[in-house]
Amino acid sequence: MKILLIGSGGREHSLAWKIARSPLLSALYCAPGNPGMASLGKLVALKDADIGGIADFARKQEIDLVVVGPEAPLADGIADRLKTISIPCFGPSREAAQIEASKGYLKDLCAEHDIPTAAYGRFSDSDAAKAFLQKMTAPYVIKADGLAAGKGVLIADTLQEAELAIDEMLDGRFGEAGTELVIEEFMEGEEASFFAISDGETIIPMVGSQDHKRAFDGDKGPNTGGMGAYSPAPVFTDDIQQDVMTRIIEPTVTALRERGSPYCGVLYAGLMIGKDGPQLIEYNARFGDPECQVMMRRMKSDIVPVLLAAAKGELAGACFDWSDEAAALVVLAANGYPGAYEKGSAIKGLNDATALPGVEIFHAGTKLAGSEVTADGGRVLNVTATGATGREAVERAYAAVDQIDWPEGFCRRDIGWRMLERE
Ligand code: AMP
Ligand code: GLY
Repeated sequence: MKILLIGSGGREHSLAWKIARSPLLSALYCAPGNPGMASLGKLVALKDADIGGIADFARKQEIDLVVVGPEAPLADGIADRLKTISIPCFGPSREAAQIEASKGYLKDLCAEHDIPTAAYGRFSDSDAAKAFLQKMTAPYVIKADGLAAGKGVLIADTLQEAELAIDEMLDGRFGEAGTELVIEEFMEGEEASFFAISDGETIIPMVGSQDHKRAFDGDKGPNTGGMGAYSPAPVFTDDIQQDVMTRIIEPTVTALRERGSPYCGVLYAGLMIGKDGPQLIEYNARFGDPECQVMMRRMKSDIVPVLLAAAKGELAGACFDWSDEAAALVVLAANGYPGAYEKGSAIKGLNDATALPGVEIFHAGTKLAGSEVTADGGRVLNVTATGATGREAVERAYAAVDQIDWPEGFCRRDIGWRMLERE
């Protein structure tokens, strides 16, 4: 089978690593991929936004399956385009991807189907939004409706701050993404991520994980794309998983099918686990980054038959087999991230780090300068390790981090603290 993987981050490197192990694979192409993926597949110089170019390439190369990593090409209709040329695509249609691309769309769907989530209102008028705020209590949760690269959510402690956020959002701070906004009730609890794969009808659960969104130790500092992750997440028990499947994931898949936009791909549920059980914060129409990487480390079975079956609407009977081992991931980011940072510094010691037990390193923002790996982004490397326990996985990941010589980068030193407290 010939597979084309779209994307260039750590998530895609881990998917490439897993796909490359499949005995079904004859060729793997990565568009555009990253230096870490070059030993696993052929890098193709196509941007993930270039849907026309990707479709042409897939047709000419007679690709059997396209796997889409990031959300932007999904929201732009890459799956719909590939469908017109009969190439199976793992990833939802533009319409089904609305569950990520429009927060208002998702909230309405939850309300219609009794899916547990925060109470909310949708607004495009600032006076109406401010009037609604008066009925809420602090902290106030204000969200731009559209895709804002994870930056469209503001949690305000005071009414003044919340009103300012409303004005700024509706004034175009997020461009098109902010012409409408959602105001939500604040949910208390512990966050976890859960993933399930669907072909529009059948649903295959994956496993729970947690990430660390803040830049610095103690969950302090600005929000980032994610500074680390681990799986399993002890807070996400089997009972909670069952609850999430029956009260959140299954009604969502049914609702989308009934709306005429069946969901094919991976559903990423961002959950708040509170005293009344799990509630949905949001969905993403893609794998989490860095949660995908720790799941790929724990997946024992071949991923390719499941991705292909989901893309073809033939998921019934498929399943995954998971390792009992834990997996942990530490992100190495460029100094300054998520603010301004420099590119081009050299990273040494990767071979020694990778040679340690249980360790795999996935590239995110890297570039090759000759044979030297250099930093080329904010989140640069994902150091992952598996272990018999969460503690062992975390210790192994940090042992690998300590082999890496890169003064221009930093990492958090407390990845997995919630898991380790429970262990
Ligand atoms: P989102 O982009 O919707 O996932 O929101 C980003 C982050 O904001 C989430 O990961 C939560 O930490 C927080 N958040 C969003 N909505 C709520 C809410 N209703 N209550 C509490 N925290 C929230
Ligand atoms: N781990 C956060 C995200 O993928 O959005």
